[in-house]
Amino acid sequence: MEKIIDGELLNIPEHVAIIMDGNGRWAKKRLMPRNFGHKAGAKVVEQMCEDAYNLGVKYLTVYAFSTENWKRSVEEVTGIMNLLRNYLIDCIERASKNNMRVRVIGDRTALAPDIVDKINELETITSKYDGLNFTIALNYGGRDELRRAVSNIANKVKAGELEPDVIDEELIASHLDTAGIPDPDLLIRTSGELRLSNYLIWQLAYTEFYFTDVLWPDFTVEDLKEAIRYFNGRERRYGGVK
Ligand code: IPE
Ligand code: IPE
Ligand code: MG
Repeated sequence: MEKIIDGELLNIPEHVAIIMDGNGRWAKKRLMPRNFGHKAGAKVVEQMCEDAYNLGVKYLTVYAFSTENWKRSVEEVTGIMNLLRNYLIDCIERASKNNMRVRVIGDRTALAPDIVDKINELETITSKYDGLNFTIALNYGGRDELRRAVSNIANKVKAGELEPDVIDEELIASHLDTAGIPDPDLLIRTSGELRLSNYLIWQLAYTEFYFTDVLWPDFTVEDLKEAIRYFNGRERRYGGVK
């Protein structure tokens, strides 16, 4: 989709994936505890859902908590989970107002039962909306997602439901948490780190990457526009020649 943004005709990426990083450093700079940064970061997520959709983005996928983030202190993990509880409650109301469909990817089995209930409720209620497709990666790891997919496929083979030689890329993709969601066109990582940290490792195979030093709680619509302008300067070849 093309759209005029600040007087410039831009090709808008259909799916933007974000690694929201830098909350801890943002808080530290203010001599505040890390969870203060997470709280500020959660506010930015809300704003970004509106901004991205207004710019014409159809899918937004954010990394909220990785399978590796359990290594952090009990205090920080508890703080993030409590923030999440409140966020999920607010999200039901906001999604209904903004016509937003919300999905959660990642392994839910390690999450508290009340959080899982809220996720199910949010996904069910918002499944009828056709505005922004917003996906939250929670207790998500790309390797763990592939492990779970392989295990499901292996069980189907064992049960005689599937022949091993029909396993193609499409079948694998349909067993990932992101089944039905197109691959991201643009990945944004904030806070100056140049790595994937186990995010969407299958889905990002041909995605354009944009890195910025801005810390996530400082990220604004202007930074998103900058990332989209960068995306417009890239030539996507998918292995071919142009
Ligand atoms: C990203 O910010 C949010 C989560 C990983 C939950 P960080 O908490 O990683 O912030 P930094 O990288 O320590 O600054
Ligand atoms: C990635 O950030 C995970 C999230 C943003 C949720 P991290 O801060 O956990 O990644 P590393 O540890 O710097 O690789
Ligand atoms: Mg970090």
